[in-house]
Parts: sequence; structure tokens; C-alpha cells
Amino acid sequence: AIQRTFSIIKPDATRRNLTGAINAKLEAAGLRIVAQKRIHLTKAQAGVFYGVHKERPFYDELCTFMSSEPIVVQVLQGEDAIAKNREVMGATNPAQAADGTIRKEFALSIGENSVHGSDGPDTAAVEIAYFFSGLELVG
Ligand code: CMP
Repeated sequence: AIQRTFSIIKPDATRRNLTGAINAKLEAAGLRIVAQKRIHLTKAQAGVFYGVHKERPFYDELCTFMSSEPIVVQVLQGEDAIAKNREVMGATNPAQAADGTIRKEFALSIGENSVHGSDGPDTAAVEIAYFFSGLELVG
């Protein structure tokens, strides 16, 4: 089925001018960018977004990193978009990411791993709604 998923191009990637290269990989995988904006989160805003990880040891570092520099938030649409995006992103840890994936090519570490993607339909809906209004989704 046609799905929408939420994606972030993280500070390590925007800093290195990789937005276009990452978008090219997303589009080549058949994902359509139906909404996109560049924003700079506060640490508190990053903390709300990553609230499910609040008890993890890396939470503070994650929120500091995600608010350190601008990010690009986007909504991707396509057939099985959630799974397709996770496939093109590659494993969270770039050392385990498959060849040709975004994280294999661009990620610096498990924390500075260039992209985020929703892990399921419920998360996707919540994450999209945190950053975009319905009017901003142009499918
Ligand atoms: P993401 O898909 O954005 O969701 C949670 C993020 O936490 C994950 O990508 C990683 O970037 C980050 N993360 C996961 N494990 C670690 C870790 N051990 N150390 C630092 N960051 C981590």
C-alpha cells in the first residue's frame, strides 16, 4: 500500500552538504518527498521528539546532537514507504549497514548516523504531525 513516513537528515549530514546526495538516494529508491523543511531544533524540542528514548544512556547526547545544527525534516511517500526508507537508510550502526545504503556511505557513527526514519505506521503518524500540518503535505 502507499504509505507516508517521516525522515530527518541529521546535523552531521546537513553540515557536510549531504542533503542533496541523501535526497537523491531516497528518490532513486522510489520515495517521493511530499514535504520538506530545514529547521534548527531547540534541545527541548529534540527531547520531546525522542521521548521514547528518555531512559536510554545516550538520550542527553542524542538531544544535544540533534539540536546542535540545522536538520532537514521531510515526509516521504510511496509503496511500502516505511520499510523502503528503512532499507535505503541501512542499519542504525553504520558499521553494520549494507553497501549502498545512506548510513554505509555517509554516517560517521551510531549517534551521528545522518538520517532518522519512522519505525512503523503509528510512529510515522505521530512524527509527521509533530513537524507538519496537513496543508504542508503535498502528495
Ligand atoms: P534514530 O533512528 O534517530 O533513533 C534514535 C537514535 O539514537 C538513533 O537513530 C541513533 O542515532 C541514536 N543512538 C542509538 N544508539 C546509540 C548509542 N549507543 N549511542 C548514541 N546514539 C545512539
